[in-house]
Amino acid sequence: MRLLVTGGCGFIGSNFVRWILKEHPEDQVINLDKLTYAGNPSNLKDLEDDPRYLFIHGDICDPVDVDEAFSRDPDAVVNFAAETHVDRSIMDPSVFIQTDILGTFQLLEAVRRHQTPRFVQISTDEVYGSIERGSFDEESPLRPNSPYAASKAGGDLMVRAYFKTFGTPVLIVRSSNNYGPYQYPEKVIPLFVTNLLEGRKVPLYGDGMNVRDWLFVEDNCAAIDLILRRGVDGEIYNVGGNREITNLELTKTLLSLLDKDETYIEFVDDRLGHDRRYSLNCEKVRNLGWEARWDFLDGLRYTLEWYRENEDWWRPIKSGEFKEYYLRKYGNI
Ligand code: NAD
Ligand code: DAU
Repeated sequence: MRLLVTGGCGFIGSNFVRWILKEHPEDQVINLDKLTYAGNPSNLKDLEDDPRYLFIHGDICDPVDVDEAFSRDPDAVVNFAAETHVDRSIMDPSVFIQTDILGTFQLLEAVRRHQTPRFVQISTDEVYGSIERGSFDEESPLRPNSPYAASKAGGDLMVRAYFKTFGTPVLIVRSSNNYGPYQYPEKVIPLFVTNLLEGRKVPLYGDGMNVRDWLFVEDNCAAIDLILRRGVDGEIYNVGGNREITNLELTKTLLSLLDKDETYIEFVDDRLGHDRRYSLNCEKVRNLGWEARWDFLDGLRYTLEWYRENEDWWRPIKSGEFKEYYLRKYGNI
């Protein structure tokens, strides 16, 4: 397969590119990425000289950039490119609407023009909104609560419309919270791990009782790979880690793994519109033959070790653009 991956310099995208070239040595990957603050070419440094890998610096919202990538005649497109951080979407939603809705639209148009055989939209469980009990399945209504989630839902609805109206061969993957190497340190696990490695406190929102379902990034890559090859056009697939935990419990686990006590927790104001709990029914993807392989504690230990051993990856990030963002958001914590 010749795959066009968008957003391949981000967290999940870079893990996915590496996964594909390892699991399918005959495949080729074209990576179209704008290199926003979250895109880091060093995430794929090891593949720079690999003849199977091609990087194109470009924006999914720009039809010229998109056409350049599609002129390589991909067999399938996997769209990871997005603005992804809920807190930033609360500070300024506009770029989320631009990339997550209009960018998805530009890609769908290109799929139609170039008659690309397959388009996989990487979406999120956040489009369903919050659920106190039970789990969302793929038929659950979309009730997004943050500007990020609403933008992703907008992208998903456009994908659905192209399938219904034009018969565009699309699939949607909605996963729960990923964690693992190369995650930008604005997200809770890498933020807390790197703060603790720096000897700083960790800012826990509200009462810390919000629940997230954690999925090791490699398990998500395996699911996306399977859905890409075996999924049915027009279908949606939920992918969850089946590992629900409160933020407080997660924080205490990280503290104990790093030999720190609870004085390192700083309870701070809650996120606006903070979703209480996410939970997915993943029977459909399991019926395709997928299951999460990573145990949560093993995955956490592995991730923590990765951040410990790769300070030269995250320290420059934390002293750049991120520093300004952090100060604005958290002050002196
Ligand atoms: P990320 O923020 O780490 O990376 C996003 C990547 O997209 C970056 O490389 C960035 O440069 C690129 N990008 C942004 N705007 C672009 C544009 N206009 N044109 C081209 N490239 C652009 O994101 P992530 O956490 O790896 O998430 C990847 C995808 O998975 C997103 O669509 C996100 O909504 C979805 N998702 C993420 C999670 C998670 O836990 N991280 C869970 C479910 C779904
Ligand atoms: O569920 C999938 C989603 O997971 C993806 O679609 C998003 O792209 C991804 O960012 C993630 O969204 P969350 O908002 O769940 O992730 P985040 O890491 O920002 O926060 C996880 C939980 O931790 C959430 O309940 C808020 C809390 N939190 C987060 C930060 C950054 C804190 O308590 N303190 C913090 O400083």
